[in-house]
Amino acid sequence: MTATADKDFEPQILAFCCKYCAYAAGDLAGSMRLNYPANVKIIQVPCTGRVDMLHLLKAIEEGADGVYVAGCLEGECHFLEGNLKTKRKVAAVRKLLAEAGMAPERVRMFNLSSAMGPRFAEIATEMTAAVRALGPTPIPRIDLRAAAQVREQT
Ligand code: FES
Repeated sequence: MTATADKDFEPQILAFCCKYCAYAAGDLAGSMRLNYPANVKIIQVPCTGRVDMLHLLKAIEEGADGVYVAGCLEGECHFLEGNLKTKRKVAAVRKLLAEAGMAPERVRMFNLSSAMGPRFAEIATEMTAAVRALGPTPIPRIDLRAAAQVREQT
C-alpha cells in the first residue's frame, strides 16, 4: 500500500532520545513553542548507547512505521562513545531491514545538542515526512491491549 493509496495514513514513529541532548532539545522546542508532528512518540534514554539493536527491531516488529535514535553530537557523548556505538547498531539494523526487503530509511540516527530546539522539531518533521512518503509498514501492527487481554484470559 502506498501513501497515495492511503490518504489517511498517519505514521507512528518512535524516537529514542538521549536525555542530555535530544530530549533536552525537545524540551527547548516546547519552550520555544515550536510545532512538530504528534506522530513521534519519545522514549528518553540515559544515553543512546543504551539503545540496543533489539529495541529497534522490536519497535519495527510491533508495527512502528519508523524509528529513530537522537543522540549527542559526535565527540560530545557524556559516556564517551555511546552515540558512536549506536550509530553502528543503527547501520546494522538498516542493513537487516534492507535484506528483509524493507526500506532502511525507516530507521535513522540523528545527532544534536541540547541547544538545538529548532533542529529537534525539524528532525521530527523530516522523519515524519519521509516515513509518510514510504507508506505504512508492511508489518501488521500489534494491538497491545488486545494481546494483553488474550494473555489474561488464557
Ligand atoms: Fe547523549 Fe551518550 S550521553 S548520546
